[in-house]
Amino acid sequence: MTPPGGLWLPSAVNPSVLVDTPELVGQDVLLTPLDERWLGETAALVAEPEVRRLTGTHPTFTPDQVRGHLAELPSRPDRAGWAVRRGTDGGYVGEVVLQDLDVPNQSMSFRIALSSRQLGRGYGTEATRLVLDFGFDVVGLHRIALEVFAFNPRAAHVYRKCGFRQEGVRRHALYWDGEWVDAIDMSVLATDSRLRWARAQTR
Ligand SMILES: CC(C)(COP(=O)(O)OP(=O)(O)OC[C@H]1O[C@@H](n2cnc3c(N)ncnc32)[C@H](O)[C@@H]1OP(=O)(O)O)[C@@H](O)C(=O)NCCC(=O)NCCS
Repeated sequence: MTPPGGLWLPSAVNPSVLVDTPELVGQDVLLTPLDERWLGETAALVAEPEVRRLTGTHPTFTPDQVRGHLAELPSRPDRAGWAVRRGTDGGYVGEVVLQDLDVPNQSMSFRIALSSRQLGRGYGTEATRLVLDFGFDVVGLHRIALEVFAFNPRAAHVYRKCGFRQEGVRRHALYWDGEWVDAIDMSVLATDSRLRWARAQTR
């Protein structure tokens, strides 16, 4: 039905795939849907000082809060979260999340955090590409957005490599350890050119 005063376009988004999210299999990483079974790993990750700083996370979380968050994730129609695991032995590396589903505007936001002991081995790049492919090809999104703080050039580099483009800077968006830090807004659109995981695999 066409609403008064406007052209109605059906959304291409399929939120049902965010409930009971599938496992995503890459070359060096495996993304397993997060649930309560990942309580210990998730609680340890969100307590890591460097993860808290780089993600600008001020609040601390009790084990009960983490458990509650993980317990409801599998049934949330507006977000999906995965444990990032090494392909070789299934070991936990960190987590990656699509959240804030906006159905009419076909968009979500992205965040990722790997444990400080697991950085620089290509896991973040591959996990990001897998989730972008899922968001665009399976969920049917048009836009995926994120923010990255100016003191995190490694993450900004990985995001650019995966196809995110800078949109703007929110000045002094974070106050951390006595200093103001800018936040950089980035996004990638379904219509942007980016290295797709299927092609990356056959390079
Ligand atoms: C950001 C993050 C997901 C990246 O994942 P990762 O597995 O460490 O990254 P990868 O190994 O896939 O790639 C690292 C890339 O960054 C580059 N890099 C490393 N340090 C860098 C720096 N200081 N400046 C610019 N680039 C840098 C590496 O050279 C590599 O690029 P290349 O593959 O083109 O050579 C991960 O580091 C992480 O979770 N960090 C902690 C939390 C965090 O920062 N989360 C993001 C918040 S926005």
